[in-house]
Amino acid sequence: MRLLVQVDHPLAKCQLTIVRDKRTEPHRFRAAIRRLTSLIACEATRSMELRAIEVETPLTRCAGHTLAQRIGLIPILRAGLGMVEPVLELVPEAEVWHLGLYRDEQTAEPIHYYSKLKPDSPVHVAMILDPMLATGGSAALACQRVKDWGAEKVMLLSVIAAPEGIARVHSEFPEVDIYTCSVDAGLNANKFIVPGLGDAGDRIFNTLS
Ligand code: PRP
Repeated sequence: MRLLVQVDHPLAKCQLTIVRDKRTEPHRFRAAIRRLTSLIACEATRSMELRAIEVETPLTRCAGHTLAQRIGLIPILRAGLGMVEPVLELVPEAEVWHLGLYRDEQTAEPIHYYSKLKPDSPVHVAMILDPMLATGGSAALACQRVKDWGAEKVMLLSVIAAPEGIARVHSEFPEVDIYTCSVDAGLNANKFIVPGLGDAGDRIFNTLS
């Protein structure tokens, strides 16, 4: 219960520095988010269940493995889209189900605007993808939607997280495992993560102006 994994791989520290740097232009920002997501996904997939299978090599029969469960990636629009491809590279059989949420600029409360979760067809393991866990409002709403859908296991993959967001998700959903590269110092008065990386969605999609 209440699993928080901080991925402090040396390569993650270097890529994290690139995404934090305000001079990093969108194409380098996207690439760094992809690399960070790969490193997070390696950790998050450690507990995946396997089924034993046999294959024939060119020489003989041999024991092997395949994933035993349906894995679903749930990117939170928009910024979560930047994390989909690197997880699919590692888990090509994963399904992708989209959730649209944005944070109201005045209240910082999440607004739900899109859901593609197909009723009666929940995945076994749901990996919610969002580069930023700030107040935790968006993540908590996403966890609720995914649990209502019927996913047996829910995990949250974030590039950076504020202690406030981690505490909120774990108080409402102690069974949700959180994977992140950094637990930052906290939130500022505008509820932005500090030191943070700015607005991940705008930096990924080059919509800062
Ligand atoms: C950002 C981020 C999370 C949310 C985190 O999205 O990608 O979804 O805010 O904040 P919270 O933990 O306080 O809820 P944003 O609302 O900027 O939407 P966008 O991805 O469309 O830019």
